[in-house]
Amino acid sequence: GAPVEADVSKLAIGDMMTVEWRGKPVWILRRTPEMLATLEQNEARLADPVSGEPQQPEYATNRHRSIKPEYLIVIGICTHLGCSPSEKFASGTTEGMTADWPGGFLCPCHGSIFDLAGRVYLSQPAPTNLEIPPHKWLSDGLVLIG
Ligand code: FES
Repeated sequence: GAPVEADVSKLAIGDMMTVEWRGKPVWILRRTPEMLATLEQNEARLADPVSGEPQQPEYATNRHRSIKPEYLIVIGICTHLGCSPSEKFASGTTEGMTADWPGGFLCPCHGSIFDLAGRVYLSQPAPTNLEIPPHKWLSDGLVLIG
């Protein structure tokens, strides 16, 4: 499939957009400083903390799993059996998590929970983090996916 350009110049802080690449939904979430701060909160409970799976770009292995900390660019397909996790940043009490879960992505099929970098928690059906597609920034507001 051909690479896809995404214009994020009008994406507000805290908002998310979806573009299609190779028939897959790619989420682009412009994280707030508060969202970024949540990434440290539950790190001891991550199943795949360093994104050790093959096929992850090198820039997907840091805490925020992105080139620019603000922008998460991730394939919105659960690594368990391929459902699409909720785009809502549900937070609060979720089964298997304490009440201090700061929110992230929730897969409706078997309940896998991911943080706001697409990192999966321990004891979830999904074995690995959501996949980061290869991408590069062409300018401040334009990213090329693929
Ligand atoms: Fe997402 Fe099973 S497909 S938890």
